[in-house]
Amino acid sequence: MENIVIIDCGSQFTQLIARRVREMRIHSVVLPWDAPLGRVEELAPRGIIVSGGPDSVNDSGAIAIDRGILDMDVPILGICYGMQLMAKCLGGAVASGERPEYGVTAIGRRGNSALFKDLPDELEVLMSHGDRVVALPSGFRATAETTHGVIAAMEDESGRRFGLQFHPEVVHTQQGARILRQFLFATCGCKGDWNLGDWVEDAVAEIREKVGEGRVVCGLSGGVDSSVAAALVHRAVGSQLECIFVDHGLMRLNEARQVMDSYSGMGLSVRHVDASELFLGKLAGVTDPEKKRRIIGGLFIEVFDAEAAKIGQVDWLLQGTIYPDVIESGSKKGSVLIKSHHNVGGLPDKMKLRLLEPLRDLFKDEVRELGRIIGVPDAIVDRQPFPGPGLAVRCLGDITRARLDTLRAADAIFREELRKAGLYEKIWQSFCVLLPVRTVGVMGDGRTYNEVLALRAVDSQDAMTADWVRIPPEVLDVTAKRICNEVRGINRVVLDVTSKPPATIEWE
Ligand code: XMP
Repeated sequence: MENIVIIDCGSQFTQLIARRVREMRIHSVVLPWDAPLGRVEELAPRGIIVSGGPDSVNDSGAIAIDRGILDMDVPILGICYGMQLMAKCLGGAVASGERPEYGVTAIGRRGNSALFKDLPDELEVLMSHGDRVVALPSGFRATAETTHGVIAAMEDESGRRFGLQFHPEVVHTQQGARILRQFLFATCGCKGDWNLGDWVEDAVAEIREKVGEGRVVCGLSGGVDSSVAAALVHRAVGSQLECIFVDHGLMRLNEARQVMDSYSGMGLSVRHVDASELFLGKLAGVTDPEKKRRIIGGLFIEVFDAEAAKIGQVDWLLQGTIYPDVIESGSKKGSVLIKSHHNVGGLPDKMKLRLLEPLRDLFKDEVRELGRIIGVPDAIVDRQPFPGPGLAVRCLGDITRARLDTLRAADAIFREELRKAGLYEKIWQSFCVLLPVRTVGVMGDGRTYNEVLALRAVDSQDAMTADWVRIPPEVLDVTAKRICNEVRGINRVVLDVTSKPPATIEWE
């Protein structure tokens, strides 16, 4: 199998490079920066990409790769820090701190380069660097420069060593994918005959080897990530996987039953724990959003733990962590807490389990594609993200059964109308929020004094930022009319037209 080795020097974009390589149907292996030459040679790569990273090559203790790798007889592409490292190791020089460039910058091509074949002379690219190459190693020439004269790309005379000061892997770089494609296909000679189906085979083999005879427990929520992770591990170790679905009574209309039906169709062994009495009891009278989240998170762990104890000896906890979760938790270090997201955080330590996270390197759309390949039903694969605390964070104020029922009925109508308009599957997330605000209305000849319902629909790539969806007025109109007519307790419907930031997607 043809391989590309990606050496990770610590950039947040490393997995994005891996993703771009996967998109071109080429297999890649990400190795840590300190991987020895022997490890790289073992993989017999067609080419090597050295990623960016946060260090400065001139600092003592800065990340450095095994020098022998740069002498391997394969094409090598250094990106950002990778380019600076390459320049420094091969006899060039890098200046620190002068003219840092962050953001989209114009570059102009100089001479011909295999990487820029058939591209325009000027390109807009994403730069994110404090350091820059100021002297090229011997045998190298600059193949692009910024308007400030910073070397933006370099290449050696053999046409097998390349450096890019910018990030071709991000969408903000014009023709970035083309540049990577040129490197991978024209220079490395890759064929691109790998696919995500092959990824499944590798992942299944790896899970089998890791887990051995061990037993795996998994908390299922009905969401895409945990369901796909469970389907994958089930394929690998079958009945050694036991799943637990904690029903907190905060799901949408008929959702718990539908989710359980889908799981049984997938052949998964799932314990359905109806803990709604417990959750709703503890939430009674609680209106503070963070307190709600803490109660739900704590109870979830308690219930899950108690159910898992009934299984007997368990060795692994399977989680559907995906790459944006990894990035978000890393980048959130030391930052202000906006909301405490709960899933099964805290469980592995408490239960002394080892963590199994087979989707850790994948992006959401890849997880969906993978789900389809391994037969996860569309109802789950296409499901919009749903928060762990469920309707608790959409039922503002007191959480009572009556208010939850009102919210469920309205939410079902909104979903139905979006589906009828062919919009539901296209939208990242759409839902209703019940507000603890009463307003006056008139129905027939009578005065009403009922609660307000907000409609929220957003589009997003990864939930880090989001834009509100411009739903056609006729769809909004019929939704609002139906909700006021059919759902008791609501006499006014409003639309949330805020993006994230400044708002968050959920209201609490
Ligand atoms: P916010 O509201 O922070 O949400 O913009 C970002 C994404 O995360 C979902 N969300 C959660 N998911 N547990 C989860 O598993 C949670 O506690 C939680 N809170 C918010 C939200 O629906 C959106 O997709």
